[in-house]
Amino acid sequence: MNNSYVKLKENLTYLKLNQMDIHLNETIDFINRNDLSFVDALIKLTDYEIDMKEINMVKAMVKVAAFPHLKEIKDFDFEFQPSVSKEQILDFTTLRFIEQKENIVFLGSSGVGKTHLATSIGIAAAKKRTSTYFIKCHDLILNLKKAQAENRLETRLKHYRKYKLLIIDEIGYLPISEEDAKLFFQLIDMRYEFRSTILTTNASFKSWGEIFQDPKIANAILDRVLHHATVINIVGDSYRLKNHFKSEEKSKVDILK
Ligand SMILES: Nc1ncnc2c1ncn2[C@@H]1O[C@H](COP(=O)(O)OP(=O)(O)O)[C@@H](O)[C@H]1O
Ligand SMILES: [Mg+2]
Repeated sequence: MNNSYVKLKENLTYLKLNQMDIHLNETIDFINRNDLSFVDALIKLTDYEIDMKEINMVKAMVKVAAFPHLKEIKDFDFEFQPSVSKEQILDFTTLRFIEQKENIVFLGSSGVGKTHLATSIGIAAAKKRTSTYFIKCHDLILNLKKAQAENRLETRLKHYRKYKLLIIDEIGYLPISEEDAKLFFQLIDMRYEFRSTILTTNASFKSWGEIFQDPKIANAILDRVLHHATVINIVGDSYRLKNHFKSEEKSKVDILK
């Protein structure tokens, strides 16, 4: 083997340029065949390294976002849930709403796909390297409470303020005390007209007064959330029970036979 070639391989290993190392032979062949200049050859080789960096960056963004699962739009059966417009959801994945600092609220009963859709949009954002974070409302409040007890609420709020997209899942499943509602309000107020937030809830806005145990705070929260927001009201069956009903229907058919 040619000495320079061996030295170049060693250099690439030393510099941890693995992709350039892996693609070195095919690139040399390509360059010889097509008579590429030194600059074009270097561009071709470094592009392999950049492509991998991009892939790893996206992976890291998705990991940091802490999604509950990696379900995407392509995994959502829009025929099963006709009250959800595919075009509208696809439009969200262009991230136009993030540029315009708008919110999205998914409203609907359990199992209709709120978390799935919120996550899908979040994944689309993370893939475009938009800082995204997913958290359940209950965990978010526990986090803020802990920070307050440790005298670092301001820092924590600032932390949550920095995400270009924050997904707050499951508002309304658990009651929120008046004190906690104030913490939640501070977070919403900090992000208002500054960052986009996706919220999911099984509770109609009318009942938020009860959930937050203070109608005034609930109103202040809703006011800010809904000022620039699209509300997707999902009216339909639970996907979780889909197969259950199917088998029930089947057994009914069996009985009728
Ligand atoms: N229309 C759908 N197509 C495919 N999977 C769905 C659909 N709706 C819900 N699911 C799946 O059903 C389960 C429950 O959905 P989820 O989004 O968690 O419901 P919600 O948050 O509204 O309670 C998840 O595993 C989700 O991926
Ligand atoms: Mg959910």
